Amino acid sequence: MDRKPIAAGKSSFEIVDTDKVLAELELEKGPVLVDAACGAGNYTITAAPLMAAGGHIHAFDLWREGIEELNRRLRERGLGNVTAAVADISKEIPLADGSADVCLIATALHDLIEDGGGEGTLRQVARILRPGGRLVVLEFVKEEGPPGPPLRIRLSPEELDDFVTPFGFEKVRTTGAGEHFYLSTYVRS
Ligand SMILES: C[S@@+](CC[C@H](N)C(=O)[O-])C[C@H]1O[C@@H](n2cnc3c(N)ncnc32)[C@H](O)[C@@H]1O
Repeated sequence: MDRKPIAAGKSSFEIVDTDKVLAELELEKGPVLVDAACGAGNYTITAAPLMAAGGHIHAFDLWREGIEELNRRLRERGLGNVTAAVADISKEIPLADGSADVCLIATALHDLIEDGGGEGTLRQVARILRPGGRLVVLEFVKEEGPPGPPLRIRLSPEELDDFVTPFGFEKVRTTGAGEHFYLSTYVRS
């Protein structure tokens, strides 16, 4: 693709309460985890060493340089339980139906929706998650920034529920994840 993907190169990882995010991923169960729109892989790099045996992370982003950077970081750290690849997650997440236990979308769904790819992304996430699998969405609170995107593209927890649940998800909970963020978890029915 010629143009840079929306929000490529941006990450709010440093100001998120990442312990809250990691706790929702249930890494101790050794899941097949998908980091969808992973950027340069800040969450993947943090989660991979904590993953129980048998678990694996599939990290995808449309931003080629981000995936190259993530692969370089994985090699440097000798992390073998991650596969990182370029993919447009709104069109095709390159995994088999029902093959994933958990999917993380960290501060990216508002961008995908703004870019017209939100529905395609939810269809793909619903396809690759097994029944009972979990979708974990990290979003900015709906308040004027900075930090974060313009208020008009932010999603309140209620707006997020309205967007996500029609794709076959039931809400589990919403929790805070630092001053500017919340985390909503859904289960694939
Ligand atoms: C704000 S960044 C968040 C990156 C990462 N999740 C993090 O929090 O560090 C949003 C990411 O979405 C990616 N993105 C945008 N559209 C995409 C698409 N259609 N498919 C895959 N990734 C996409 C961008 O390249 C960017 O890396």
